[in-house]
Amino acid sequence: MKGTFITVEGIDGAGKSSFLPWIEHRLRAGGREVVLTREPGGTAVGERLRDILLHGALSADAEALLMFAARKEHIDAVILPALAAGTWVLCDRFTDATFAYQGAGRGVDERRLAALEHWIQRGLQPDHTILFDLPVEVARARSALVRRPDRFESEQADFFTRVRAGYLRRAASDPKRVSVIDASRTPDGVEAQLAALDFLR
Ligand code: TMP
Repeated sequence: MKGTFITVEGIDGAGKSSFLPWIEHRLRAGGREVVLTREPGGTAVGERLRDILLHGALSADAEALLMFAARKEHIDAVILPALAAGTWVLCDRFTDATFAYQGAGRGVDERRLAALEHWIQRGLQPDHTILFDLPVEVARARSALVRRPDRFESEQADFFTRVRAGYLRRAASDPKRVSVIDASRTPDGVEAQLAALDFLR
């Protein structure tokens, strides 16, 4: 018995947070046990690191290292025990975000990130990843409507253009794992695309 590991990704303002409860409900309706969690975060120390990452002043390298430090705690304390118990893990962001934000966005060498991924994850990869994709201008217009922006949300459009391209490269390199959703559509249109994913049936 082993659970299934699902991650949800996208640039800020892509709308993934609005659909996480829908995805969770859909999995539970199919009779599955589900743990909903997030990165950075998901553990007590991970949430403290999240606060530093979203609000502190950090170099790009320190940011990448802290993301993986939080991830290590999360994997050991939450993700692996849940999967071992046959529970589905629905995780709001994971390592694709590090390649997109710290790699493509901030310019940290991808080989360094790949070495950390290999060290920390020891082969653990999401079974399925849902990537909410949309043009940067649409995402920015949406996030302008919400609360006070954090360090990432305050970045300029060209940063998010690189992050989006980084995500799309990850998706293209692993199309069996990563399902790209057109998040520029209406909520009904997004829901219809999610409902068509075979692991959400
Ligand atoms: P959230 O607002 O979707 O919870 O994500 C928090 C921010 O953290 C978001 O702007 C993306 C950023 N992030 C990274 O830069 N690298 C990572 O590895 C993760 C997991 C998140």
